[in-house]
Amino acid sequence: MLNEIKSNLRSSLIYLREYILFLLIVIITFYFLSERNLNLLFAYILLAISGLIILFQMGKGRNKELGQIKVIINNITTNKYSSTDEIVLTKNLDSLEKEIKQMYQKSKNDIEYLNKLQKMRSQFIANVSHELRTPIFTIQGYIETLLEGAIDDTNVNKKFLRKANQHTIALSNLLNDLIDLSMIESGELRMSYRYFNVNKYLGGIVEEIVPLVEENDLEIIYHPARDDLEILGDKEKLKQVFVNIIQNAIKYTKKGSVEVFVEEDKKSVKFIVKDTGIGIPEKSVGRIFERFYRVDKTRSRSVGGTGLGLAIVKHILEAHNSTIEVKSVLNKGSEFSFELNK
Ligand SMILES: Nc1ncnc2c1ncn2[C@@H]1O[C@H](COP(=O)(O)OP(=O)(O)OP(=O)(O)O)[C@@H](O)[C@H]1O
Ligand SMILES: [Mg+2]
Repeated sequence: MLNEIKSNLRSSLIYLREYILFLLIVIITFYFLSERNLNLLFAYILLAISGLIILFQMGKGRNKELGQIKVIINNITTNKYSSTDEIVLTKNLDSLEKEIKQMYQKSKNDIEYLNKLQKMRSQFIANVSHELRTPIFTIQGYIETLLEGAIDDTNVNKKFLRKANQHTIALSNLLNDLIDLSMIESGELRMSYRYFNVNKYLGGIVEEIVPLVEENDLEIIYHPARDDLEILGDKEKLKQVFVNIIQNAIKYTKKGSVEVFVEEDKKSVKFIVKDTGIGIPEKSVGRIFERFYRVDKTRSRSVGGTGLGLAIVKHILEAHNSTIEVKSVLNKGSEFSFELNK
């Protein structure tokens, strides 16, 4: 209330000059009216004309302010400003000036954010197209070679078909990852939380993966948890998390071991996947969760990765209110860990 009165008073001060002028004319007119026998009609006309002149002056002042505001709006729409400091209104309009500056800054930030998003989308599409092109061209190459006669060559025909098949698997993995990501983005990836036994679940996952390990010098060890330990989470989605982290550990470890630890706390359970592999350079550790990011693209391709796995892992764990941590030493090994509620 008090603020409103103050602000109204401040605004009316703009017309103080006109007000004083009018008051003076009225006083002078009344003085002459009483002292010098001024004609009453003449006094009325004098007051009306001076009133009109003052009204005109006020309108002019108001138009000047509106003109300033119009110029500012026009400058904003035509992107003429490079900073908010360039937006200046007369002193009595400082609160309006402040609001225009805020609005300008907000729309500037929104536009910058949209541009960034647009850039990320274009980058994403470019990456997807690139990743799709590689296996499709390879499959095409094998099929063409087979059609051109290699199909009758018993030395290579099966080998080529097997290779083409490997690439169709990679292609379908990539498409599945993309579908997962698009579901995460559109909010369709619904979690269904249940309690389940850790040992049965994780032991099963490790058992499924072990036969696929091609490296002979690699040992996969699961350190079992307490037998009746249960955690709360989406079993299916978490399987993607464990499979990807364990498979990564295997893919990037030639020799030594991949170990899975379960550490029980009061309210939560920590899962750790530790390997003795190639490790991750320090500057890349923060980036491996970005879509399509791979430390070494050529190596990753030879082991069949597209760089989407950890991006999906991060989203699934976020949905479980968890975050993943990485410790890694180049050429020594890496350790991925996260916690889930009991
Ligand atoms: N245990 C690890 N040791 C060394 N590097 C790793 C390890 N885990 C991940 N990385 C690095 O992080 C990158 C991103 O991992 P991510 O799982 O997202 O992709 P990917 O395994 O290459 O492909 P995808 O999982 O999509 O098949 C990998 O390409 C690799 O360079
Ligand atoms: Mg992976």
